[in-house]
Amino acid sequence: MTQSIKFWAIVPAAGVGKRMQADRPKQYLELAGTTVIEHTLLRLLQADIFSAIAVAVSKEDPYWPELPLSKHQTIITAPGGKERADSVLSGLKAIREQASDDDWVLVHDAARPCITTEDIHYLINTLVNDEVGGILALASADTLKQVQGNSITGTLDRSHIWRALTPQMFRYGMLKAALEQTQGNPAITDDASALELTGLQPKIVEGRPDNIKITRPEDLALAKFYIDQQCL
Ligand code: CTP
Ligand code: MG
Repeated sequence: MTQSIKFWAIVPAAGVGKRMQADRPKQYLELAGTTVIEHTLLRLLQADIFSAIAVAVSKEDPYWPELPLSKHQTIITAPGGKERADSVLSGLKAIREQASDDDWVLVHDAARPCITTEDIHYLINTLVNDEVGGILALASADTLKQVQGNSITGTLDRSHIWRALTPQMFRYGMLKAALEQTQGNPAITDDASALELTGLQPKIVEGRPDNIKITRPEDLALAKFYIDQQCL
């Protein structure tokens, strides 16, 4: 009898949020009555599909153990790494006893608190029979310019350029192998790029534009606006 496929979530949350310039990592900033990471995790829990959610946090992080969700039975804490990819790999290792190579893993940034259960299910339903997996992505509304210094050297064909969001959904075994093979490579800025470097071609699935990553100070107000809209 073949074992049924499981779904796991990995949440990299070990960044320091340099561009946010706040007094603490951005995942712990207040957003619509709670913290950014609590929104993110509650939405993943609400999706009601994950066997466990592994959250990778920095060893010196004093905020995480204070959150009630850090003790939730579905949530596992893993040590964060130097780069995002190291944190994701650490999250994968934290579930290695329970996960099978063919299980699906959805990696989702702690800093994307506006993710909807609708988008999570849409990604899963679109890719569940795919060989490789793929990512939520957005087309660019703006015309895109290639630039050297401050001079435009060309206009890119927008139909070939997409913005990578999360969740990014891959098979446990393939993702772990790709991250191990590409460890230390600075070109790996998301999970898909690790698989691309091993010669695979992940798919894109069009996501919602409100799935923003909190990156700069002005993003918090925008995230609050989206969350208020979503709750209407
Ligand atoms: N992340 C992580 N481990 C790292 C670096 C980043 O788990 N070593 C996580 C962040 O916590 C975030 C996600 O990866 O949830 C996306 O990274 P990014 O938006 O770049 O967050 P930071 O690295 O914290 O921000 P900055 O680059 O401005 O310092
Ligand atoms: Mg970063």
